[in-house]
Amino acid sequence: MLRKARDWVVFILVYVPLLSSQSMRVDAESHEWWQHAVFYEIYPRSFADSNGDGIGDLKGITSKLDYLKALGVDAIWITPCFPSPQVDFGYDVSDYENIDPMYGTLADFSDLEKEARKHGIRIILDFVVNHTSDQHKWFIDSRSSRAAPRRNWYIWRDGKETGEPPNNWVSIFGGSAWTWDSSTKQFYYHYFYPQQPDLNWRNPAVHDAMMDVSRWWYKRGVAGFRLDAVETLFEDPQLHDNPVLPGFNSFGDPKEEDKYNTKLPEVHEVLRDLRRVADESGAVLIGETWTNDVAELKQYYGEHSNELQMPMDLMFTKLQFSAASFREHIAVVDASGGWPVYVISNHDIVRSYNRYGDGQHNEAIAKILASLYLTLRGTPIMYYGEELGMENNDPVRKEDVKDPIGRLGWPKEKGRDGERTPMQWNDGPNGGFTAGTPWLPVPASYKTHNVESELKDPSSILNVYRRVLSLRHTNRALRDGNYMGLNQSDPNVLSYLRTYKNQAVLVVLNMSAQPQQVSFDLAPQGFTSQSAHTLMTTMTQKAGEAALTQMALEPFAVYIGSISR
Ligand code: NOJ
Ligand code: CA
Repeated sequence: MLRKARDWVVFILVYVPLLSSQSMRVDAESHEWWQHAVFYEIYPRSFADSNGDGIGDLKGITSKLDYLKALGVDAIWITPCFPSPQVDFGYDVSDYENIDPMYGTLADFSDLEKEARKHGIRIILDFVVNHTSDQHKWFIDSRSSRAAPRRNWYIWRDGKETGEPPNNWVSIFGGSAWTWDSSTKQFYYHYFYPQQPDLNWRNPAVHDAMMDVSRWWYKRGVAGFRLDAVETLFEDPQLHDNPVLPGFNSFGDPKEEDKYNTKLPEVHEVLRDLRRVADESGAVLIGETWTNDVAELKQYYGEHSNELQMPMDLMFTKLQFSAASFREHIAVVDASGGWPVYVISNHDIVRSYNRYGDGQHNEAIAKILASLYLTLRGTPIMYYGEELGMENNDPVRKEDVKDPIGRLGWPKEKGRDGERTPMQWNDGPNGGFTAGTPWLPVPASYKTHNVESELKDPSSILNVYRRVLSLRHTNRALRDGNYMGLNQSDPNVLSYLRTYKNQAVLVVLNMSAQPQQVSFDLAPQGFTSQSAHTLMTTMTQKAGEAALTQMALEPFAVYIGSISR
């Protein structure tokens, strides 16, 4: 009797919470939380500074959760906020299990996590899996002697007899990928800066330590990771030279095909292992996956959907601004079988406002992009400030550059400072980001493109983002509907239907500077109605119904409407 009672207590304490947390992860149609979520990337140095030192911090992020919630954000990905010498602004981690004092403390992280949870916002951290900082205790030990316990945690090799590095591999950040260590008289390998030595993932001890790091954060409430530079985890053990291509890069190094030091098949074994650990906590893995085509992107989901749930479609950031190029790409991604993850910008890429703006219609073009990536089937990942139409503020003098690649490659390569400038909260000094001197200057456009001013203007980029995000959360067809391209040969207007049972949402984007006329026959899709009910448009004609047979579009106009069977 007593035993029975004890079994029941065990059942209630252990299994019932497990069952309910499992069922919360998946909806009636087997969608997991991250499939309905909108993700938002925060570059913590630049989001909100709470203590006036000119550098954003965790308390700053916590203070902006109301803003993020009202915007329609469900998860924030914070780029590395761990202790770091900041050579690569956090992507050189010297301790995976702590917070850099410039960003706060572990207690600040817990506060942020707790407050975010109350707001219904999950936290995703950035896991730098390929390399550590050269100041990480693992590397300090590794370089201390050839016999050091952690010597084999990194990639050490003898040079050639001539004293040259072991092979011709170049670092993506300039120069040889090998750095000579004069005390132990060997070279170590680094795909990125010399201060970012590559971990040796062939060593099981490294593998286990890194799995444990991920567990450590899951226990602290982290909902998943964005995995940095996954494709560079393994190198050819024979160290074959890479094929040399014609020409030189911005650092003056010969161009190379990274055949023997990127995208080795072993990467997928590690992704499967990280996924197994993530699954123990119902966590999500997002990948920094630079792929050449959709077939390559598909591999990152894993043959049995057992690798990354969310490999980013970064090809999306390289498309030409034309109806045809987006139409073609979206169709292939949507049909590929993996859950699409659309991204238009990040901290390594020139902001979309500059990339796609034509100098005349930048505002309208920013609204087109918002209406595009936020209404597709898949999960969007926003980049802070895109919702304001923030623009790049590239340094004009070499001496102002903070990002080391900008100093090394100047003036061809100006670095990534321009897309990492402080968030523009209001039209006060420094856009309201800091009471001190910001680590990077805000662009002049902060006077008009800031949260406070844009909230007051119903037709601002910010209000378009807010409306589309609100539709995305409330309209079933936008949440769960299938994607179907329409009017496939229209060179100017990208239009598509999202359909869910008896409902559909029609998205029409005039990607040209000229007015356009379009008409839709949706009978083949089972929708015989001749008109759509307007949900959102950037055109002067706002509310009401729009005729499907005769739709006049202003230049760069957005139209989103619903249709029922
Ligand atoms: C990709 C990150 O996004 C970038 O900012 C960083 O410099 C490299 N990985 C190296 O970690
Ligand atoms: Ca600060």
